[in-house]
Amino acid sequence: MAKVVITGGRRLHGRVRVGGRKNSVVAVIPATLLAEGASHIENLPAIGDVSVYADILKSMGLSVRQDRDSMSIDPTGLVAGITPPRELAQRLRASYYLLGVLLARFGEAEVALPGGCDIGLRPIDQHIKGFRALGAEATIEHGVVRVSAPHGLTGAQVYLDVVSVGATINIMLAATLADGTTTIENAAKEPHIVDLADYLNSCGAKIQGAGTDVIRIRGVKSLSGCVHAVIPDEIEAATFMIAAAATRGDVLIDNVIPKHLDPITAKLVEAGAEVTQNGDSIRVTMSRPRPRAVNVKTLPYPGFPTDAQQPMSVLLSVAEGTSFVTESIWEGRFKHVDELKRMGTNIRVEGRMAIIEGVPKLMGAPVRATDLRAGAALIIAGLMAEGQTEISGIEHVDRGYERLSDKFRALGAKIARMQG
Ligand code: EPU
Repeated sequence: MAKVVITGGRRLHGRVRVGGRKNSVVAVIPATLLAEGASHIENLPAIGDVSVYADILKSMGLSVRQDRDSMSIDPTGLVAGITPPRELAQRLRASYYLLGVLLARFGEAEVALPGGCDIGLRPIDQHIKGFRALGAEATIEHGVVRVSAPHGLTGAQVYLDVVSVGATINIMLAATLADGTTTIENAAKEPHIVDLADYLNSCGAKIQGAGTDVIRIRGVKSLSGCVHAVIPDEIEAATFMIAAAATRGDVLIDNVIPKHLDPITAKLVEAGAEVTQNGDSIRVTMSRPRPRAVNVKTLPYPGFPTDAQQPMSVLLSVAEGTSFVTESIWEGRFKHVDELKRMGTNIRVEGRMAIIEGVPKLMGAPVRATDLRAGAALIIAGLMAEGQTEISGIEHVDRGYERLSDKFRALGAKIARMQG
């Protein structure tokens, strides 16, 4: 079990480069299996979820070559009937994209129910609804999802009852090789959905409307492999932006798409930070001794992202006044609050809302990360706090952030990583 030890109270300053987007790459990697030739993915983040996905593909007999920040996947060895090992599939959420991909390629797929962060109920009914609309049969038994369409998939109209990133992606993947046109209504609009559509279109798919709430996929007979650079990770960028504001620092964050960060920028400016954009960089400075209290409500894109809610609530824990933070995507995303209490915060959770009474300062304490973003949030708390904070459960953080401790150290933080 890895842990980090932080001596807090230092202002972050300097320059940091953001890697490729986790939630994009974990969709593009399985999507490469739809093609008949090899694909090359660039701007690949060095994160745990990518390593697990590479292991899944290798265990399925595929050739995967990974360099420092790129990966080549050759799906030619893929044959019908191969299932990803349960133990690996359960280690990340995005393994369920293999359902859409294998269903499209071979008319059948069998994948263990996926893992991922423990942040509340994570149903997959909308994925199943989509597969069924395309003509597949689907069952979930003994923790395994089985889908089959012996006569192939046929394009259809699918209306999502909830805006779901995962269901939008899975249906898009399945529909790419279906016979006829599929329309996904009430689709998720996250930039990683656009990124995936861009990758698939470069390989020969016919997808229109990604980034809006209606996506049209005209099925094609086959895809060829292609080269694709994954977009930057806006949650990694948001984490540095919030950390810069939280430590009253001055940080320039490179390799970002500032537009994707608008909801974060808006809230940081409301809280009193200065945010300036220049090309693919964004600079955050904070000169106020304490942020202003602000209210935040998480929503599907382009609303405030749930994945940045926990770090943001840490910043607000020292604000002047009371902030109301409403989590409308994941009911289990306030688990970091109990840990933060050990550091002197005054936060009350009522259902889906955290009521944060700002305190003048945080104090270092031993705390435990229960999920990926909770871990990032606790690291920010440690950077702000007086004295030493020891954070266990860092393996959650490794799943989705590349070298986070090293990057914070390069910005002036006193942070050390050790085995627990
Ligand atoms: N939902 C359903 N039925 C479904 C699917 C989703 O009711 O079939 C509900 C969920 O319970 C949730 C809401 O719809 O309340 C949104 O879920 P969504 O499907 O959009 O989430 P996801 O695809 O499981 C992805 C990211 C999450 C991120 C969410 C929301 C990946 C691998 N994961 O999850 O990322 O929080 O979208 O933006 O892309 C993270 O990176 O820390 C993370 C948890």
